[in-house]
Amino acid sequence: MLEVTFLNPKDKVRRKIEVEPGENLREAAIRHKFGLYPHIFKVLNCRGRGLCTSCTVEIVSGEVEPMNEIETEKLKSQVAKKPGIRLSCQVKVTDNLTVRTRSSI
Ligand code: FES
Repeated sequence: MLEVTFLNPKDKVRRKIEVEPGENLREAAIRHKFGLYPHIFKVLNCRGRGLCTSCTVEIVSGEVEPMNEIETEKLKSQVAKKPGIRLSCQVKVTDNLTVRTRSSI
């Protein structure tokens, strides 16, 4: 089992969850009933298809695979400002991660 730690805007721990190696980050958060989506995007999101960017998070620590084509295209304007920024729906968890959620980005 791997561990994902979600941080709040002041870098205090909001929640820690256990994740199966290789599990999708968004799906793991949903399985643990942890809300990644801000405001209205809890309802209005693309359900993990990489279209809406509402599941954007910042990987603070831990190794993740390089961005796929969808992320590269969707996040190209934001990556220059925040290199750790990712779409949680496109991230496979393969290491213990510390993640800042969108509300704190
Ligand atoms: S859920 Fe829409 S981009 Fe991730």
